[in-house]
Amino acid sequence: RKSVWLDCDPGHDDALAIILAGYDSRLRLLGVSTVAGNQTVEKVTLNALGLLTAAGLHSIPVVQGQAKPLMRPAQICPAIHGESGLEFLDGSSMQDYAVGSPVNEKAVLYMHSCISSHAESQPVALVCTGALTNAALLVSLFPELLPKIEIVLMGGCLGTGNTGSVAEFNIQSDPEAAKIVFECGAPVTMVPLEVTHTALATPAVLQRLSVRSTPFLGLMRKLLLFFAQTYREVFSFEHPPLHDPLAVFYVACPEAFKVKRMRVDIETSSPLSAGQTVCDIWGRSPLGPNATVALEADVDSFWESMIAAVMKADMV
Ligand code: BDR
Ligand code: CA
Repeated sequence: RKSVWLDCDPGHDDALAIILAGYDSRLRLLGVSTVAGNQTVEKVTLNALGLLTAAGLHSIPVVQGQAKPLMRPAQICPAIHGESGLEFLDGSSMQDYAVGSPVNEKAVLYMHSCISSHAESQPVALVCTGALTNAALLVSLFPELLPKIEIVLMGGCLGTGNTGSVAEFNIQSDPEAAKIVFECGAPVTMVPLEVTHTALATPAVLQRLSVRSTPFLGLMRKLLLFFAQTYREVFSFEHPPLHDPLAVFYVACPEAFKVKRMRVDIETSSPLSAGQTVCDIWGRSPLGPNATVALEADVDSFWESMIAAVMKADMV
């Protein structure tokens, strides 16, 4: 099994990423850290605790990370994820399930000790599905971790963004942190919007989550229905894209992805395009590649793994 640390901002799609990391038989989830993004860090931490409780992942530690980006004010995203950050259409939210509290330690310190103690035989995958603030601090404070980790992140885009015209939300939230991460020297894999926009939670997916009328599957359907509504309202998407679990799926099953090595630079100065992932698709940059960029995913195989993980959580 590959060891995974998940750094996230739950978030509807982050919740599915936690379930996949917690229940895919190829992975061992070491812990979850949170970062300000979809909502304040306090809210997304409660959401992480609620999801882990609802999904029966009681032994997974949660640690609360950075409350704001390295150099910019926090921007949150209630239009997509609601006031709580993981809202449902009936007014309830994932926070209602939260039991316990986060580990009482700075996230980056806890991540360092947990990751280094598990990285003896093979690198730990640090999967980031929110702003890269915690990850940037981790690699800056503990460069000795670099040979022991691979970083897989949901974020960025080759073309059109989803926040600014050319920037994706996670990278745009903290461009300076993203720059540090892409240039840190550890293997970095970026799973961009072009790939995650192909993993749509269609009515057929919802149908597969309706085979039993259990409370947990009901919760999963509520989660997807809220996400579907906001994606329809904000982006006119017919079905919502499940961005974040794709990054976890890459760790479980890299052979399901078509990828290309390339140089990815992060725009940090322009007010129009801050957070743009400038991807050197044609290999023209004199600087060598610093990232593996996912170009396509086998979406059927993703859904097989995702639904299998949800069904396992439902049986706990
Ligand atoms: C990313 O932004 C967040 O709202 C989602 O959780 C995902 O990580 C998609 O751009
Ligand atoms: Ca996220």
